[in-house]
Amino acid sequence: MAPLFAALLFASLASASGSGVSTAISRIRIDLERDIKRDINEPLRLPNNNSIAELYFEQPLDHQTVDSDTYFQRYFSRTSFSPSDAVSPDYVFLCTGGEGPGFTDSVLLDSVHCTGDMIELASNLADAGKDVMLYAIEHRYYGLSLPRGDMTSSNYNVYLSSHNAILDVSTFVEMQNEKFETKPKWVTFGGSYPGMVSAWSRLLFPDLIWASVSNSSPVQAKLNMNEYNDYVGKVLSDEDIGGSQECLDVVAEGHEQIKEQLSTSSGQEGLVAEFNVCEIDGLDNPLSVDRNAQLFAGDGVIYVPAQENDPSCTGDLCNVKKICESLLDGPETESAMDKLLRVAAAQNGDGCVTVDWESQISLLKSLAATAGGTRSWLFQTCNEFGFYQTCEEDSSCPYAKGLHPLNQDLEMCSSVFGIDADTVSNNVDASNDFYGGWNVDSSRILFVNGDVDPWSTLAITSTNPEVPDPTKCLPAFWVDQASHHFWTHEVLPTDSDYVNESRKKIWKQVDQWLQLDDAGAC
Ligand SMILES: *[C@@H]1O[C@H](CO)[C@@H](O)[C@H](O)[C@H]1NC(C)=O
Ligand SMILES: *[C@@H]1O[C@H](CO)[C@@H](O)[C@H](O)[C@H]1NC(C)=O
Repeated sequence: MAPLFAALLFASLASASGSGVSTAISRIRIDLERDIKRDINEPLRLPNNNSIAELYFEQPLDHQTVDSDTYFQRYFSRTSFSPSDAVSPDYVFLCTGGEGPGFTDSVLLDSVHCTGDMIELASNLADAGKDVMLYAIEHRYYGLSLPRGDMTSSNYNVYLSSHNAILDVSTFVEMQNEKFETKPKWVTFGGSYPGMVSAWSRLLFPDLIWASVSNSSPVQAKLNMNEYNDYVGKVLSDEDIGGSQECLDVVAEGHEQIKEQLSTSSGQEGLVAEFNVCEIDGLDNPLSVDRNAQLFAGDGVIYVPAQENDPSCTGDLCNVKKICESLLDGPETESAMDKLLRVAAAQNGDGCVTVDWESQISLLKSLAATAGGTRSWLFQTCNEFGFYQTCEEDSSCPYAKGLHPLNQDLEMCSSVFGIDADTVSNNVDASNDFYGGWNVDSSRILFVNGDVDPWSTLAITSTNPEVPDPTKCLPAFWVDQASHHFWTHEVLPTDSDYVNESRKKIWKQVDQWLQLDDAGAC
């Protein structure tokens, strides 16, 4: 079964579940507030040898209002590339936060966020005699950067927006600048939604942010992102990463067969038995409910790690190559649906598969969904970006076509947050008007995208509709055979030449920008 939020930027978001989560969250909050009372300005030195500290910064909740209530925003600092110990750095690199689970100190050491591009470059510059300070700032309403108190109130998401997050960045930069004896050049880095925050921080605050690197960032908001699943089809047939046309055909044909079976109640009952779908209270055929049938087949009965594809992963069925090999390896008489069933069973393991729209809505309404940022990101899609990954009749989606209609996502916005369909649609347009979408009017932003990434369809690339204007100095390049910002992950011996080269290109471009003296040059 594909996770509920295959739709979301990070796979890890898919894991909100379990009623124990909310207690865990309240406990963390209590500890946090105790720490804050102890002394919010006393850095917590972390147990490693890299001079990494965890700190909190008091931010206005509402930047537009004087005397707004505040919250404590969590951030990390690392001084190991700063011989002056952050007194007079030449450069400051800031890893911008976004959706997903909270940061840990690995964010400035070896995580998926900003390692291969930002931290490696800082290390190179330090070797060349430069003083480089590193920070990573969590995004409001994710991790431990939460408003105080009323997490259950209806006001919970009032101040959650990318704009407020960028204003948080600007306040943070100004605050740090006051402590430095010299005025350093700041560069922001981020991948995925944090890549949008990174680019837009430069867009809105060009005087504070000297340059920015924006990896795999879908800067063009779109209500119906039908491109996503079309691109998953392209990834399944991509021979460079072990896909093939035959593999795509099996997935598409198997889902056609499933869709056919879903049209009768005996067919549904057969699927419930074969795919081991859990009974729901009072309902032994959960697939008789339209929304459940959609959840079952509209996002795929198997999990295809398109945006997370890792060519060197070691688990079973962990990448496109292994999934395609397994799908195509079976007796000749096996139907496409039975091939999917075999892979689904291996992926799901023992235990039945829950397919229950109603309980998902209840979960999303509850505190449990704050874990991992699931609820907050859903809110941002309804409030700003859309990005709904439909699977429609007239598309190249490899799953059951027609079984992920846009009204499914819109119902979620309305049931969970009370935001109606027209408002969601207007919110998406407003985001593009505000930031410019593909036409971002800025300079010294580098856009990097992998060609194994459905999100690249809404990113600034050399092939998307609005080709970046070279005179504006918004360079963009592709990374072959790379999934969603794979090159920002920690550096490994298994990394491909393409990934290694992309890092060097990023370092070279940022280094060139850092050597400029003229604020207007690029
Ligand atoms: C820090 O470095 C020292 C000396 O290299 C080593 O003995 C120690 O285990 C390190 N501590 C941690 C927490 O990595
Ligand atoms: C990519 O870089 C890493 C780290 O330097 C290295 O270990 C790896 O061998 C390189 N990959 C290739 C294909 O050369």
